[in-house]
Amino acid sequence: MTNASTGKTGPVGVGFIGAGVISDQYLENLVKFPDVKVVFIADLDLARAKAQADKYSVALSGTVDELLANADVEIVVNLTIPAAHAEVDLKCIAAGKHVWSEKPYALSRESAREVAVAADKAGVLVCVAPDTIMGGGIQTGLRAIQDGKIGTPLTAMTMFQVGGPESWHPSPEFLFAKGAGPLMDMGPYYLSTLVSIFGPAARVTGTGSKSRDTRVIATGPKAGTEFPVEVPTHVGAMIEFESGASAQCIFSFESALFRMGFVEINGTEGTISLPDPNMFDGDSELHLGPEPEQITKVELTGPTHGRGTGVLEMAQAIREGRKVRIPGEIALHVLDIMISISEAIESKTWVEVKSTLAPIEALPVSWDPADATLS
Ligand SMILES: NC(=O)c1ccc[n+]([C@@H]2O[C@H](COP(=O)([O-])OP(=O)(O)OC[C@H]3O[C@@H](n4cnc5c(N)ncnc54)[C@H](O)[C@@H]3O)[C@@H](O)[C@H]2O)c1
Repeated sequence: MTNASTGKTGPVGVGFIGAGVISDQYLENLVKFPDVKVVFIADLDLARAKAQADKYSVALSGTVDELLANADVEIVVNLTIPAAHAEVDLKCIAAGKHVWSEKPYALSRESAREVAVAADKAGVLVCVAPDTIMGGGIQTGLRAIQDGKIGTPLTAMTMFQVGGPESWHPSPEFLFAKGAGPLMDMGPYYLSTLVSIFGPAARVTGTGSKSRDTRVIATGPKAGTEFPVEVPTHVGAMIEFESGASAQCIFSFESALFRMGFVEINGTEGTISLPDPNMFDGDSELHLGPEPEQITKVELTGPTHGRGTGVLEMAQAIREGRKVRIPGEIALHVLDIMISISEAIESKTWVEVKSTLAPIEALPVSWDPADATLS
């Protein structure tokens, strides 16, 4: 397929900036999807970029500037740490590249807005993780809700509580710095799901705490190194949506009892428990009452490929000259919600969420990132 205004045709060229822990999950998929071609991997650490390029048979690796000068790179997948997201996005936009960025969008509303405005002016797209909400798991649940299976959705409860990622991540410092912590690191999965169901948030409040001012890296070459904890490591948040619906959410790195992916939505006619919003698969369960015969599994439909799904959908939208299905506005609104929760924790008040969001449609069941549609 050829884009009428750019004249570009065939699979879309993709470059990576950031070759750390999460790059494997993206690369495993993006080197296989027929509608994209990974052409370059860049990192501040050139050896790390080269190692990932070799591992996934990507032809080129090098510096960020070399990547941005490469005309074959049309979309940059920004997998740097949160503090670098906006700066890297702006460089990519200035070089005329579309951007898929990992979450969160940026560290502040202002820098996220600066990225969005620069992208609009340059005529390029910026989309931001998570793409897990495009996976068959969450999409199946969203379709059941949109089909009226629980009546009108009214309230939600979500829970993510673990001991903390310093137990498994070899460079976990950024996960305890501004732009992360359990709220900003895990919140995007849960909050993107909630706004897909309830629409925009209107106001939030919350409580936050941390048990320790430092933590210790448990694995990898830096094992034993102590580092600072800059943000709350336990957050309890309440959200009221414009619709009048509400949600209570726990985001915690302070629990020896791990509970991940707990999302329950109560409606006028029933309750649905959704699968882990940090995954692309998993079952939804419909409860129309407490008796066993009133509880049914909702059969999963749709693709479950994993990270990179959003990059692929973006690539197809670019070639087809149409809008993306999961636009950057979702991540802008989710960032606003998370910053508002942080402000509410500080001020011990309710904080109004000023941004809003257009309704989000469920994806067509038949859409599959593994299909070749562009050649
Ligand atoms: N690790 C996970 O399980 C996971 C899961 C989902 C999302 N994410 C998100 O992915 C992003 C990266 O996480 P990670 O775990 O891979 O981190 P990481 O620390 O393992 O890797 C980050 C890489 O980015 C590079 N980098 C940093 N700043 C750069 C810059 N300005 N220019 C070029 N390269 C730069 C670093 O050298 C490093 O190789 C974060 O936003 C994180 O929230 C991570």
